[in-house]
Parts: sequence; structure tokens; C-alpha cells
Amino acid sequence: MQIITIDGPASSGKGTVARLIAKKLGFHYLESGAIYRVVALISIQASLNSLDIDKILALIDKMKLTFVGGRVFVANVDVTESLRAEEVGMMASLIAKNDVIRKRLLDFQRGFATTPGLVTDGRDMGSVVFPNANLKIFLTASSQIRANRRYEQLKEYNKNITLDNVLKGIIARDKQDTERSSAPLTYDSSFVLLDNANMSIEETARHIISLCKF
Ligand code: CDP
Repeated sequence: MQIITIDGPASSGKGTVARLIAKKLGFHYLESGAIYRVVALISIQASLNSLDIDKILALIDKMKLTFVGGRVFVANVDVTESLRAEEVGMMASLIAKNDVIRKRLLDFQRGFATTPGLVTDGRDMGSVVFPNANLKIFLTASSQIRANRRYEQLKEYNKNITLDNVLKGIIARDKQDTERSSAPLTYDSSFVLLDNANMSIEETARHIISLCKF
């Protein structure tokens, strides 16, 4: 069984690239950020704040989360679109600072590693969840480029959004994810660093597949 991890900051394109690679290789795909976003969404719906750790843990233990055909369901309700809201991303990032919550989600994430292989994206997939993965990528691009990408995605749904607000949100979330003590966004010499500022999704996916030694 082969595992490819793709970590990186917000809007580095890791999700789209990871999904495409999984399709090309016939591997399973896990978007770990969706798990944190679901925890954030159900916590917001329960009017909790990010420091209500015990209550959030109780929600996680009861959570019925499934991924079907690229969509995300909580107790059979399709929440795929609701997860994309910036408010949910920011709450996910706040909740994701907590080490007990992160540990509670480990086995669930590791359960996705089944034959013939897994492509997964997030912040700590190569550093904590699958440290022995066959290929570990750190995918990034400048915050300005990433903000442009996110703005293009979000403006279709949200007419009030501005590029400046999106950029500020991305910078705040990068800071929060990089500076936290539990599983911060980082990489070391066991990762391949890839800046995809001037690469399309298809080029990025092909390049990563070309690095696979299996
Ligand atoms: O798509 P985007 O990169 O904006 O975010 P995401 O991958 O959906 O993740 C949302 C938030 O969840 C991140 O800002 C992280 O704080 C957290 N997260 C994490 O801590 N660890 C992961 N493996 C994945 C996401």
C-alpha cells in the first residue's frame, strides 16, 4: 500500500491536486481539512466556542461523518457547501490548535489508508498522521497568489467578499496554523518542497506523480 501526503497552507491547491492524483492512480483520497471543518461546523451549530474542548470532544465521539462521491455528509445531510465558508475555516483553525482534539481524530484519519493506496492533503499529514508515507509533498505559493485563487472560488457564492479580506484571512490562518504548538504546519528534509505559483493543477499533479518511486 502506497501513501502520498500533500501538506501546505490555505489555497495552495493541495486539495484539487491531491484529488486529481488519486483519480489518476486509482487511489483513495482523504481531505483531512474537511474533518476539521466538519468539527467546526457542528460546533458552530451547537453554539460552542473553540475553547469548549470537552463539549467538542463529545460531538466528535457522536459524529457520523462520511465521504461519498466527493461530497461530505454528516448524519446523511450533505454539508459540502457549508464547509467552504470562511467562518468555518477560521473556526476549524482555532479548534485545530488543540492537541487532545487532534489526537482524537488520528485513528479516524489513519483508517483511510487502505489498498491500493491513499493520497491525502492537510497540514500535518506528512509530519504526524502518516510520517512514513512513500512521498511527502509540501505545496505552497505566495499569500497573494493563494488569496487570488481563493477569491476567484468564493466570489461566485459570496458577492460581498473582497480580495483584501480574503488575503487578510489567509495570512491570519497561515500564522495560526504555523505558530501553534500542536502539529504546526511545517516540513523537513523528508518532504519535497514545491512552489506551484506558475504551475497549473494538471502540471502540479503530473510533477508529483513523476516523483513517485513506486
Ligand atoms: O482548504 P484550506 O487549505 O483553506 O483549509 P483546510 O485544508 O480545509 O483546513 C482548514 C483548517 O483545518 C486549517 O486552517 C487547519 O487549521 C486545520 N487543519 C489541520 O489543522 N490539520 C489538517 N491536517 C488539516 C486541516
